[in-house]
Amino acid sequence: MLSYRHGFHAGNYADVLKHSALCLILEYMCKKDKPFAYIDTHAGAGSYSLKNDMAIKTGEFNEGVLKLWGQDHLPEELGPYMHAIKKQNKKGNLSYYPGSPQVALAFLRSNDAMRLFELHPKDADTLKKNTPSKSRFQVEHKDGYEGLKSALPPVSRRAVVLIDPSYELKSEYRASIKAIEMGVKRFSTGTYMLWYPVVDRKLVQGMEKYWVKTGIKNVLQVEYCREPDSPGYGMTGTGLFIVNPPWQLANQLTTVMEAMNRYMDSGKAVSRVVQLVAE
Ligand SMILES: C[S@@+](CC[C@H](N)C(=O)[O-])C[C@H]1O[C@@H](n2cnc3c(N)ncnc32)[C@H](O)[C@@H]1O
Repeated sequence: MLSYRHGFHAGNYADVLKHSALCLILEYMCKKDKPFAYIDTHAGAGSYSLKNDMAIKTGEFNEGVLKLWGQDHLPEELGPYMHAIKKQNKKGNLSYYPGSPQVALAFLRSNDAMRLFELHPKDADTLKKNTPSKSRFQVEHKDGYEGLKSALPPVSRRAVVLIDPSYELKSEYRASIKAIEMGVKRFSTGTYMLWYPVVDRKLVQGMEKYWVKTGIKNVLQVEYCREPDSPGYGMTGTGLFIVNPPWQLANQLTTVMEAMNRYMDSGKAVSRVVQLVAE
């Protein structure tokens, strides 16, 4: 198990959507002075070289972040995301891609906290090396679903939680939502983000039904599909469920996905933004 390595996929179109949303949420959290915690249950390695064998082998970033890099007329909704990318590439060439922990570090202030969990031994080790050593940042080589229990409620009573599984196990389509169910019981006002791939439409529909069944309120769903649904032929789209999103996020992500479609997919992608469960 645990054969997935995010280094093969860093900076692909799914990362562009996920990290753009994360940046917009973190930017919103920073509007208030009160500190918050960033909790990442599946943190990966933290940062990725785009010049190493993994990135070059798949070349996925060429069809993702590279299409936005150096563009002069991106909408302001992509500004926070490009800020995080530029922070990793100060020399001006796109050589590194920030994983979700580095994306978060582009926004966290001196009193915000961070809890990171990663199960793969190599990536957990790299993550530790990539994370500044500070008492308010904790990096743990352990199961993120277990870790989430210990991280909630946060001391600051404000938090953004990212759950970004690799879905190597089919059970994760349900387990990931159950983790948020547990989270919301402990801490109802947090913002929870859950990433999902579109590999089989039935699995996504199963998730949608389960969300409604949990009774959790205020769930936004965004989805961006590059290709028509084709079960058995890999990932054709990418999506996010977001509990307690900032109020303007739905509109902002509509604009982000329009820009992704223009710059990355020549208008051929199909996207949707749905208030899956009302407030
Ligand atoms: C999609 S990647 C994460 C990417 C990262 N969040 C980012 O956006 O840069 C999923 C990661 O979860 C790790 N993983 C898988 N199962 C896990 C678990 N139960 N707990 C913690 N990490 C896990 C994998 O090793 C992999 O590094």
